[in-house]
This record gives sequence, C-alpha cells and structure tokens, in this order.
Amino acid sequence: VTETPTQPEVNIGLVGHVDHGKTTLVQALSGSWTDQHSEEMKRGISIRLGYADATFRQCPEEEAPDCYTVEETCGEHDTETEVVRTVSFVDAPGHETLMATMLSGAALMDGAVLVISATEDVPQAQTEEHLMALDIIGIDNIVIAQNKVDLVDRERARDNYRQIQEFVEGTVAEDAPIVPVSAGQEVNLDLLIDAIEREIPTRERPADEDARMYVARSFDINRPGTTWENLSGGVVGGSLVAGKMERGDEIQLRPGREVEHGGKTSWESIETDIRSLQAGGKQVDEVTPGGLLGVGTGLDPSLTKGDALAGQVAGEPGTLPPTRESFEMDVDLLDRVVGGDEEIEEISTGEPLMLTVGTATTVGAVTSAREDECEVNLKRPVCAEAGAKIAINRRVGARWRLIGVGTLNE
Ligand code: GTP
Repeated sequence: VTETPTQPEVNIGLVGHVDHGKTTLVQALSGSWTDQHSEEMKRGISIRLGYADATFRQCPEEEAPDCYTVEETCGEHDTETEVVRTVSFVDAPGHETLMATMLSGAALMDGAVLVISATEDVPQAQTEEHLMALDIIGIDNIVIAQNKVDLVDRERARDNYRQIQEFVEGTVAEDAPIVPVSAGQEVNLDLLIDAIEREIPTRERPADEDARMYVARSFDINRPGTTWENLSGGVVGGSLVAGKMERGDEIQLRPGREVEHGGKTSWESIETDIRSLQAGGKQVDEVTPGGLLGVGTGLDPSLTKGDALAGQVAGEPGTLPPTRESFEMDVDLLDRVVGGDEEIEEISTGEPLMLTVGTATTVGAVTSAREDECEVNLKRPVCAEAGAKIAINRRVGARWRLIGVGTLNE
C-alpha cells in the first residue's frame, strides 16, 4: 500500500460508464489500482473498497493551474513540490449496474468526478444512471473529466464536449467544469486537479460532533491455525463521516448482532474498544473524516468475519441512531426507469423492495403504500436516523432497478 503523507480529508466518488477510464485515471493520479483486494492488504488492516488515495501537490515556482501535479519534484525546476491535500477516490462499480452498490458508496462522497469517454456518444447507460444517482443523493460538487481525448481528433472532441454540455443541462452537473484529459497519456491532469481543488473543497466540520462511522466491510484477519494468544480482534473497515475516533475509545455498533432468547430473535448492539487504527495506509492514533479507515477492535473475530458487520454504524456508545426493523418513508419516484422509457408504477402493498441506507442494503416488504409514502418491514434491520436518504430499488425482470428515493420518517 502506498503511504500518503497526510490522511485523506475528502472522499471523491469516481463514476462513469464501463471502460471510460475510471481505473486508469485513479492510477494516473495515485499510482495505485482501485481493484486490489489481496490477502496481504487485508492482513495489514488495509481494507479496500475500491478506495485509492492520491496526494495533490504543487510546484512552488508556478501558478495555478500549471503548478498542480502528483509528482514529488517539479521536473523543470528541480525543486520539491508541496503537499496541497490528500484525497480519497471511491470507485463505483461500472459494469454491474446494481445501483445500490453505487449509492452505498455515494453516502460517503463529498463530491464526484464523472468520467466520460470522448470516443463514444453521450450519454452511455451508466453515465446517465450515475449522474442520476448523484442527483438523488444530493452530490452537486461535480467535475467532469472528458477522457481519452488522445484517441479522437479535434472536431470529434468538440462535438463530444457539446454533447456533454447538452446532457448535463438541467441536472446537478449543469455548472460542473468539463476538463478534457487523457488518463492514459497523463495529459491535462493539472487542469483536472485544479478543477477538483475548486469544486470539491474539504468540508468544514464542527469540532464537537459525535463520531459516526459507516461500516462497509469487516474481517477476521487471523490466518488459519493462529493460537488464541496471538489472535487479533475483529477488524471493521469503512468511513468516518463525522467526528473523530481515537485509539482506546469505546465504540458501539448498531444494529449489532442477532441474539436468541427463548425462541425469539432480536438485535443487540455490540460494544468494544478501538485497539488500532489505520488510515491513509498507515497506523495512526486518531482519525477524522476522509478516506477509508480500518479499525482493529477487541471483538471476537468470528463476529466480523466475511463482512458480517458491513452496513452497520459505529460511534460513541449512547449516541447512535436507533435500530429499525421497520420504518415509514416519504417516497419520491423517478419519472421513468433510468436508461429506458418505461414508466415507473406506484409502489404496492406486499411487494419486495431493495433499500440502501448508508452502507446497508436490505430487502423490505411493503406493508402499506399510499401515494407518496410507504411502510416497510425489513428482513435485516438498519441503524438510521430520521431524515436519512434511502435508495429504493424494485425487481424488474432479472435485476434490481432504481425507482426512486425515500426519506425516513420519525
Ligand atoms: P471499469 O472499471 O471496468 O468500469 O472501467 P474503467 O472506467 O475503470 O476503465 P479503465 O480505466 O479500465 O479503462 C478502459 C480502457 O480504456 C483501458 O484499456 C484503458 O487502458 C483505456 N484508457 C483509459 N483512459 C485512456 C486514455 O485517456 N487514453 C487512451 N488511449 N486509453 C485510455
């Protein structure tokens, strides 16, 4: 894992159609691949959910935007570059259009880079789908990277640029800068960094807010056959979206675990303490929001094995939102299915919906539906506060399709 000089302070979603160059772009900016999940990295409590950190630097001898680079020295001047900030790119899956996965990542994003290839007409299916998801989740700090400009001639690049402008008209990306780049040839990356610096600033955070971590993955990092004296506690990976966490802090996780009492099952929160913290590829004593975080806990690793705690929320004991086995939500349906012309029918009582709340994805059965409100009974409970945004998916044929967004009612 590449170490970054500072912990990432902002999460930037990387979205766009399959093969338009997301991975190549992140690689050009950070020198690491987002789709790595090697055993070795897991053992180092470094958990990747398609996250890659990149440190933007500037050459003290030059003005913006030319000064921006990811190199440690500015070649022509032979001087060292200065760190501007470290950002974390969150890669959304391009091929599997399971919108929930994209949206669960979106809950952690402060802004997004939409990658659009200049070699194809605009919009391609996921270009449209991802932009709509950003719209729904309310992410409006957007930069558009018009990629692969090295593969087209000037005229084609200009036509494509106009298509992009037309496509984003009236959407959250309407005012987003469009930066022509070649991720492959590393052209115009300085302009792209400049646009990111301007459009996706680090959020100001109140110092006293409660710590809130969305758990995206969880692991048992012990090798088979480890004796109990050497056993490491369970590890949870995810992102802190508010507050801070320190080594030694007590934490609570909700919904926690399912327990059985006299034939009845219920969910009980889990409490533990933080034994180790990893952020930006290294061990730290304290973490603040930004990037991916690995938390080594005192939990029995059997509790964290195989992503068992993915979708849960962690924070200081007594400060977490309630665990809900059912809830009521206001519903805002899309006009039509993304990437198609079919109209979306109203939600009906009895139908199953796939709901994404934060990093949790659960199936809910609709127990009552009115025009713009419905109640659901969840298969697996979620920890969420009133006002939380919920991505609503319906089964259409063989796949789940995004049909709208809900807002959790008290
Ligand atoms: P998924 O992760 O599969 O959704 O794709 P992606 O969007 O991450 O695309 P990826 O980075 O894998 O790029 C797709 C292909 O386009 C690869 O073969 C890249 O080498 C190529 N490519 C990406 N960017 C550029 C570019 O700027 N110029 C050229 N010539 N090729 C590029």
